[in-house]
Amino acid sequence: MSTAVSKKLFIKTWGCQMNVYDSGRMADILAPLGYALTDSAEGADMVILNTCHIREKATEKVFSDLGRLRPLKEAKAGAAKAAQSEDGAEPMIVAVAGCVAQAEGEEIARRAPWVDLVFGPQTYHQLPEMVARAHRHAGRPLVNTDFPVESKFDHLPGEAGVQGATAFLSVQEGCDKFCTFCVVPYTRGAEYSRDAAGILAEARRLTAAGAREITLLGQNVNAFHGEGPDGSVWGLARLIRALAEIDGLERIRYTTSHPRDMDDDLIAAHRDVPQLMPFLHLPVQSGSDRILAAMNRKHDGDTYRRVIDRLRAARPDLALSSDFIVGFPGETDRDFADTLKLVTEIGFAQAYSFKYSARPGTPAAALDDQLPEAAKDDRLQALQQLLWAQQGAFNQGMVGRVIPVLLDRPGRRPGQLQGRSPWMQSVHLQAPAHLLGTIQPVRIIDAKQLSLTGTADLVAEEAA
Ligand code: 5AD
Ligand code: SF4
Repeated sequence: MSTAVSKKLFIKTWGCQMNVYDSGRMADILAPLGYALTDSAEGADMVILNTCHIREKATEKVFSDLGRLRPLKEAKAGAAKAAQSEDGAEPMIVAVAGCVAQAEGEEIARRAPWVDLVFGPQTYHQLPEMVARAHRHAGRPLVNTDFPVESKFDHLPGEAGVQGATAFLSVQEGCDKFCTFCVVPYTRGAEYSRDAAGILAEARRLTAAGAREITLLGQNVNAFHGEGPDGSVWGLARLIRALAEIDGLERIRYTTSHPRDMDDDLIAAHRDVPQLMPFLHLPVQSGSDRILAAMNRKHDGDTYRRVIDRLRAARPDLALSSDFIVGFPGETDRDFADTLKLVTEIGFAQAYSFKYSARPGTPAAALDDQLPEAAKDDRLQALQQLLWAQQGAFNQGMVGRVIPVLLDRPGRRPGQLQGRSPWMQSVHLQAPAHLLGTIQPVRIIDAKQLSLTGTADLVAEEAA
């Protein structure tokens, strides 16, 4: 079979790491059709907007991007026509993927009928077929937002594309928790875990291609319950222990977790598995039991505190990250004070905080006591100030220490590399390029709010 002409593929990705992973897999699937990634929509043969619906304005941003793409598509169609060539010059295919596509498929078809493809997160393994149909299909997008019975993971190509020292690996998808503010159970569908054998095979391929660190991904990753090679059901801890056996895989992380699914075995894995990094993203959302109940989080503040205590007992250097929502319907000053109290007690190395945003179709959007924007703004500012100070102090505490850094990217200037600490901090240092992709001891000499500066002296000594 001859290789198809080289075509340019531009993918714009919004949102979570699962979307980043999905975009990578879309590129893998399209590669055999002759598509190679490019970094601009201009002149591209195919543009995919891989969208996120989790918070405000996502849909409007997608429509405004689509508005900008339309003239590019028309220009390309004009050029293809003028050339009248047989060298494969075809119109641009414009696709909307991800959770906005899933939630707003018909609306996209109505408002932007010149879009070619609209597909959700569970159907992108059918891209080759969709692309072929798009070429024959004009005037109305092909909308594919089913939740197919077969899993896309059984239909994705084995070879992952371009790889670096850090890689994502999707192990679980969807969510059955139904927090009242969240669209994920509707856009990503029911909880689903991949088979362990497929995950282990993908991890071995990634490691062989140079990955030293793998982050296991899932909307509810610690609810993982995939079939093991022996037919039994494996939890996440069992999977992590098996991954830790892979030669050359030096670091393992997982995200995002739910406090309810932090079971004994997983906590024990933090104690027993040295490759499991001492950093955990464990969203709490609020410190108020009343609000946590209204959010249907299925845990209260004290349950969360106890889980953290047990994790810290298992792995004393564990650093924590979390997600917070301020201004959930009915949140009072007192509820918000409980959130600040929890943050002060626990201490976070990193955090993401958001103003509550009513998502159409979710139960909380229908609640009466929605808060005014100004109140949400004030609370967000107060919370972020506290979290910012904790993050700054955590980073400052690294100064003077020698820590293992995975050098995974070239630096901003020649002679520099960037890397990642065990606690997810970015580290900048002068270091020779041949160390890219390795873990080196680095002395931290300075700390900023969002990054650390290290010195390569130790690296040079090692090399000497
Ligand atoms: N409004 C604000 N933040 C939200 N998140 C999810 N849904 C909403 C919403 N409707 C936040 C939660 C979640 C993170 C990924 O996004 O904090 O953990
Ligand atoms: Fe959304 Fe809650 Fe599921 Fe997380 S656990 S994906 S916040 S419904």
